[in-house]
Amino acid sequence: MREVLRKGVMDYGRTQPIDEEILNKLLENAFYIESTFQDPEGYAQLDRALHDIGVQNTLFYLSTPPGWYATIVENIGKSELEKCPEGWRRIVVEKPFGRDLESAKALDEELHAVFNEDQIYRMDHYLGKETVQNILAFRFGNGIFEPLWNRKYIDHIQITMAETDGVGTRAGYYDKAGVVRDVFQNHLLQLLTLTAMEAPAVFKAKAVRDEKVKVLNSINNITKEIALKNTYRAQYVSGTVDGKRVASYRDEPDVDPNSTTETYMAARLFVNNWRWAGVPFYLRSGKRLPKRVTEIAIQFTQIPLSLFSQRNLASEAPNVLVIRIQPNEGITLFLGAKVPGGAMRIEPVEMRFSYAEAFGGSPPEAYERLLLDSLMGDATLFTRSDEVDEAWRLAQGIIDAWDEEGLENLPIYEAGTHGPHGADGFIQRDGRRWRDI
Ligand code: BG6
Repeated sequence: MREVLRKGVMDYGRTQPIDEEILNKLLENAFYIESTFQDPEGYAQLDRALHDIGVQNTLFYLSTPPGWYATIVENIGKSELEKCPEGWRRIVVEKPFGRDLESAKALDEELHAVFNEDQIYRMDHYLGKETVQNILAFRFGNGIFEPLWNRKYIDHIQITMAETDGVGTRAGYYDKAGVVRDVFQNHLLQLLTLTAMEAPAVFKAKAVRDEKVKVLNSINNITKEIALKNTYRAQYVSGTVDGKRVASYRDEPDVDPNSTTETYMAARLFVNNWRWAGVPFYLRSGKRLPKRVTEIAIQFTQIPLSLFSQRNLASEAPNVLVIRIQPNEGITLFLGAKVPGGAMRIEPVEMRFSYAEAFGGSPPEAYERLLLDSLMGDATLFTRSDEVDEAWRLAQGIIDAWDEEGLENLPIYEAGTHGPHGADGFIQRDGRRWRDI
């Protein structure tokens, strides 16, 4: 059986080389039980195995299609596997957590029928990324940014998650999800909450998650009118990415040839609290864009007037702080500086911190951190029930508006380009432009 497990590890796509010694140690302690998700005997077998091996502390990690979560949890409950007076029992569920507000609430009820909230770890792998955690370290571990981090000095914020990949082999799921469910409801809103939240009283799960929920609470309900005015969606058609010709979304395997699922979306949100009132947060994400980049760009307000007549500093070099989540992880501050020479000419320059240069190597996998935290019982980087609901409240407003509106002529964009032209108009009407990625 260990050989089957070894093969599974070896065959699985990975970004880091495997350390044989560690793998062998792990496999020595690995056991395998085969069962269907519905069969009570499988759970009884698991119970016996845990007993025989002498294991008390147990983490159930549901690495299964989400449609099975409810059945598995119910069966765990029937076998009383969630209970362990001598140790702890926890469960990890990955996104997608439901496919809309209603199903997320139903799933939550099913989980809570068996597990307490403090046993449930809802995983959004973005929170495990080093650079995402560094948003908090950067904001709350340095004194100089806090005075500037508000509506007085920040003009707007852009959060971008661009991917070169298409839908790949996941159309069965993706065609029913689209960007709004796949990444807006979770990754993008998580990045927004970390950027906008207040400092927690302590760096503990409850305090951090309380502050994150408050940010989502501060975003108004998205009515149909608000959604249609503040979102833009489109779908890719064939084009060239990384020098290779790629198919249209509708021609990808298992995609409905008449699909109106969006593969690109942009949204403008306002966090209505004292810190952020009036500051737009522009979020965008798309598949088949020319580069894979995730970043948060904080654009500061312009200087009140330009003292330098030859060139206008305000338009040439607005101060932007870019937090690069991936790749080339780091932080860059764009400033205006005088070009050497007789004339007073100002051009944008960059001050840069690079993870690779400062710390060497590449950051660890998000899943490593999240697995370890769930074993250690630290839920700070996992989403709490109320947070998931709030994120769905926002996504649901958009989904309902889009469903009601229908779309005969879904805007399109050529794969490998920077997205649909309409998305440029979407931000330009506010007198702003997307950052080049
Ligand atoms: C997943 C989405 O959650 O995140 C995928 O379902 C997306 O569609 C992926 O490609 C991106 O993750 P990462 O870590 O590569 O940015």
